[in-house]
Amino acid sequence: MARKVTKAIFPVAGLGTRFLPATKSVPKEIMTLVDRPLVQYAIDEARAAGITEFIFVTSRGKSALEDYFDHNLVLEQELKSKGKDDLLETLNATNMESGAIAYIRQHKALGLGHAVWCARRLIGDEPFAVMLPDDVIAADKPCLQQMIEAYEETGGNMVATMEVPSNKTSSYGVLDVGENVGTVVRAKGMVEKPKPDEAPSNLAVIGRYVLGPSVLYNLNQAKTGSGGEIQLTDAIAEDICNGVPVFGYKFDGQRFDCGSKSGFLQATVAFALARDDLRDDLNQYLQDLYATGQAAQ
Ligand code: UTP
Repeated sequence: MARKVTKAIFPVAGLGTRFLPATKSVPKEIMTLVDRPLVQYAIDEARAAGITEFIFVTSRGKSALEDYFDHNLVLEQELKSKGKDDLLETLNATNMESGAIAYIRQHKALGLGHAVWCARRLIGDEPFAVMLPDDVIAADKPCLQQMIEAYEETGGNMVATMEVPSNKTSSYGVLDVGENVGTVVRAKGMVEKPKPDEAPSNLAVIGRYVLGPSVLYNLNQAKTGSGGEIQLTDAIAEDICNGVPVFGYKFDGQRFDCGSKSGFLQATVAFALARDDLRDDLNQYLQDLYATGQAAQ
């Protein structure tokens, strides 16, 4: 039986160039889907999966993230004195128990693998999750919870995977599939950002991982890989060569790539349409838009 996973790393030190100029001063993870920042979705998913220690790998200009998870006593007092209990309740999810959240710096954006490696001392010799907040997954059972339940049976390493069109493989890490057993696939290799004609499959890895500490040892010796960055994919693939199994988990849910503008807009619409307080207005707007070709006034 695999050890319990209680720690998660959130690598958020990237430059977020696809959202410039906004990300010049606003961290990408603070951008909101309806009224909750991307990072809140990731934290809620982690909590549901039993994570109790949250490690953020940050960089310059990300202080809004630290403030977001801090108590805002003035605001809380103000809401309390006005009897706005529902809003106070909304803030609860943003508060962290003292000591549950840690921030460490990645001084230079050397790649996702390097960002994860920066958290090595806080992980020690335990399995851990890695969550990329710009991948938002709508699911009845949160994706990380699905994965941890599967990981408890398999051990090794587990990465979330989904089929992508073959012309998109160069945006992802891609699995070389060994055994394919229902929702779990055993990988015999992994390649970062292969060209479509070189991709071993169309099963792409997306931003949820449950990894063993051996991946951190591999990162100790990591060399730069695709795009001149230190790749997490390469460190996981090295485990396969060392006899540690790597499984792809075909999660149940819909993933939105909120690191891209189009994915972010799609998620905004999908999450708004899922809300009782917004659905009717937005539906009406969309219907008018399609009917007339122009926005309703
Ligand atoms: P992306 O590839 O989406 O890069 O990183 P990015 O910098 O966030 O965005 P673009 O492509 O410039 O628009 C995937 C995840 O890995 C983190 C990012 O913060 C994001 O969560 N990352 C990437 C780091 O923490 N450090 C790095 O050096 C690179």
